[in-house]
Amino acid sequence: MAITASLKLDDKEYPLPVIVGTEGEKAIDTRQLRAASGYIAFDQGYGNTGSCESQITFLDGDNGILRHRGYPIEQLARYSDYVETAYLIIYGELPNATQRKEFGLRLRKNAAVEMQMQKILEGFPTNASPMAMLSAMVSALPAYYPDLATNNFEKDLKNFDLAAAIAISKIRTMVAMIYRYTHGLPYMFPKQELPFAENFLHMMFSEPYQDYAAAPEVAKALNLVLLLHADHEQNCSTSTVRMVGSSAANLFTSISAGVNALSGPLHGGANVAVMQMLQSIHDEGDDGTRFIAAAKSGSKSNRLMGFGHAVYRNFDPRAKIIGDACDVVLKKLGISDPLLDIAKNLEQAALKDDYFVSRKLYPNVDFYSGIIMRAVGIPMNMFTTMFAIGRAPGYIANWKEVASNPKGRIYRPRQIYVGAQKRDYTTIDHRA
Ligand code: ACO
Repeated sequence: MAITASLKLDDKEYPLPVIVGTEGEKAIDTRQLRAASGYIAFDQGYGNTGSCESQITFLDGDNGILRHRGYPIEQLARYSDYVETAYLIIYGELPNATQRKEFGLRLRKNAAVEMQMQKILEGFPTNASPMAMLSAMVSALPAYYPDLATNNFEKDLKNFDLAAAIAISKIRTMVAMIYRYTHGLPYMFPKQELPFAENFLHMMFSEPYQDYAAAPEVAKALNLVLLLHADHEQNCSTSTVRMVGSSAANLFTSISAGVNALSGPLHGGANVAVMQMLQSIHDEGDDGTRFIAAAKSGSKSNRLMGFGHAVYRNFDPRAKIIGDACDVVLKKLGISDPLLDIAKNLEQAALKDDYFVSRKLYPNVDFYSGIIMRAVGIPMNMFTTMFAIGRAPGYIANWKEVASNPKGRIYRPRQIYVGAQKRDYTTIDHRA
């Protein structure tokens, strides 16, 4: 039986269409409500608003389910790698052997960042925020590839394959360059023969006369971290990419807006905040009790970082995968990290505490991702840029959906104005 909805306002009834997704997600379509009734739907922060229909990622926060193009994240984490998952997210299907090879080749061929762009990077102080540098470099891409970034959907979609490969591959190189620059090290140019993660590790850690040979466990761990961040439905930064893209802005410009949105500590910056929190617990010799007590005060600035999620109300499936991987990776690398023990104790304590249990606050992906990145050798101030490399496929796939939608419109939410009512201007004598 078809489900219908209606809204009664001032004794008038307004029928509202209902939309049901392929996994049974239900929505009331309010698009015509304002025209018919003068009312808008109010939903600060869009927590209960579907801003689009999408075929990319299915997320059921109540049941801890995350699937890309139908494939469960657990299976992708176990059997796939970052590049293959990126292809899946962007193109909708797992690649066959030829498609995988061609995609990999496009990434390899487009890894190098233009020499002139070094000047952009070197215009920044060496202690500048890596995310600020990254967003500036991504913002500059349209200047180097004007034919791929015309701000015309039809033209930009014709060159989409190349633009997507440039974005994924160069964002990775830019992150490595930012690391080298801020650490006073010479840049390492990408090597075409290396796979994606190994190439990144080479650009990060090779020395002029000594190539960094990535241990397979390290490359695997990095692949996992990137894969687990590859897309996550309509999160803050991806929605930002869609919003900017909806104005017909090109792929690179839209992604750079996403990178900026990602930088906040409540989003991509949380992985840094988690490590800072674990480090201070370690430095203070505390067992985390003080942090838990402070987090329960309700103050936003004292939150237990890496806990809670805007949509997961049961568990974050990525946190489970990455938490388990932490043990394996550290063991294989022969590393014993006291911060991992602190994280585990903190998790156990919080999961027994009524404050966290009653609010359904569980560890999110950021709670453990920093520990793996630290084991790989990535410094803490680069963590959020790692998230940006990982999330690039999600940004790209979402931009493509916006650009390819013939019925798409510019994103333009409304508001309820609560400011001063109309008043008349009066001249003020500033010299008095
Ligand atoms: N520590 C302590 N209390 C918390 C936390 C936390 N980490 N998260 C939420 N709460 C509290 C809120 O204060 C609120 O309490 P109240 O009901 O007494 O007012 C209650 O739990 C419910 O909050 P939510 O509505 O679930 O939180 P919201 O959806 O607004 O925020 C967010 C989600 C931003 C992720 C939040 O949980 C948070 O700040 N977590 C820490 C930062 C973090 O780890 N961010 C990474 C997110 S994952 C990612 O971006 C990859």
